[in-house]
Amino acid sequence: MNTFAQLYGGPSEGEWAAPGRVNLIGEHTDYNLGFVLPIALPQTVRAEAARRTDGLLRLWSAQGGELVALRVEDLAPGSVPGWAGYPAGVAWALREAGHQVGGADLRLDSDVPSGAGLSSSAALECVVAAAYNDLYGLGLPAAELAVLAQRAENAFVGVPCGIMDQMASMCCHPGAALFLDSRDLSMRQVPVDLAGAGLALLVLDTRVKHDLGDGAYAALRAGCERAAALLGLPALRSLQPSGLDDALARLPSELVPLVRHVVTENARVEAAVARLDAGDPAALGPILTAGHASLRDDYRVSCPETDLAVEAALAAGAHGARMTGGGFGGSVIALVDADAAEHVAAEVTAAFRTAGYAEPRTLTAVPAEGARRLR
Ligand code: GLA
Repeated sequence: MNTFAQLYGGPSEGEWAAPGRVNLIGEHTDYNLGFVLPIALPQTVRAEAARRTDGLLRLWSAQGGELVALRVEDLAPGSVPGWAGYPAGVAWALREAGHQVGGADLRLDSDVPSGAGLSSSAALECVVAAAYNDLYGLGLPAAELAVLAQRAENAFVGVPCGIMDQMASMCCHPGAALFLDSRDLSMRQVPVDLAGAGLALLVLDTRVKHDLGDGAYAALRAGCERAAALLGLPALRSLQPSGLDDALARLPSELVPLVRHVVTENARVEAAVARLDAGDPAALGPILTAGHASLRDDYRVSCPETDLAVEAALAAGAHGARMTGGGFGGSVIALVDADAAEHVAAEVTAAFRTAGYAEPRTLTAVPAEGARRLR
C-alpha cells in the first residue's frame, strides 16, 4: 500500500478533508456577482500532509498514482499539467498573496466523482489550502482560503470559474445550504431538513464528462460581461427583474437569452431561500425545474443526457429536477419523496438504457460539512 510513511519515509503532521458540492439553484450567477445556494456533499478529497524545509512540493494521489515533485519557488502559471496543477496552484497563490509558505509532502485521496460536475477540482484545491493554512500557521479565514483556491484555478490552471465551488467546499455547514452573495461574499447558512420533510435529494451523474476548460464556459462568461458593459452595469447582478424587459430591448439578440437566464436565476435563488426559511423544502421542486428550463432553453448548457434525466425523474414523480454545475454533461439533481428515491433512480436508469446511454451513477446528497481538519 502507498501509505504516507511508505511514500515519504516519515509520518504526516495531520489530515484534512474538503467536500465536493451540489448547487441547489443559482447556476452561472456567481461570475455575474449574483446569488448561489450550494450544499456540501459527504464525499471529500482528503490530504495527509507534512511540511518540508527544502522547498520541494511532493504530491501523490490515489487517483493519479504517480508521485510529482516540484520546487515551490519555480511554480508559474501553466507550468504544471494535469491534476497536480490544482494543488501546486494553491501553493503558488498563497505565495503570490505574500504568505510565507514553503514545501510540503501531500498524500491525496478522493471519493468525489471527477468530471461529474460535483466540484472535485475545488475540493482538491480547498483541502490543500486548508492543510497549508494549518501547517504554516497562517490563520486565514475559510472565505479567504476559498478566494485563494479560486485564484489558483483562474490564474495557475487557467480555468475562469466563479467563486461558488470553492466557497461551498470551504464554508458549508452540515444540514444547511450556503446562501452566498457572490458580490461581497456575504453568506447565510439556510437550514435544509430534507429528511424531516420526508424528502431526499438524488444526484444522477450522467457520466457525460463535463470540462470547464474547453472554452464554452469562458465564452458564456464573456457574453455576460459584454452584456453588462453594454447596459452600463458593473455586473448583470445589478439588473433587477423589473428592469429586465427594458434591458433586453437594448441588447443584441444573441445576448438576450443569457441575460434573461441570469436575472431570472437570481430571483429563483431568492425564492428558494424563502421556501426553505418557511420550512417547506418540497416547494423547491418547481423552482428547480424552472431553473433547468432556463439553462436548457436560454443559457443552453444542458445536453440530451441531462435533459433526459430531468424528464425521466419528473415523470417518475420527482418534485423537481435540474442539471447542476457548469453544464455540458455532469450531474442532475432530483428532489424526491424519500420513499420514492429508488423508484426514481430506477426509472432514470431505465430511460438511459432505452436511449442507449451509459447508466447514470446515483448518489443521495445530504448537506454535509465544509473543509476541516480530521486529525
Ligand atoms: C462551475 C464553476 C462555478 C459556477 C458554475 C455554474 O461549477 O466552477 O464557478 O460558475 O460552473 O454555476
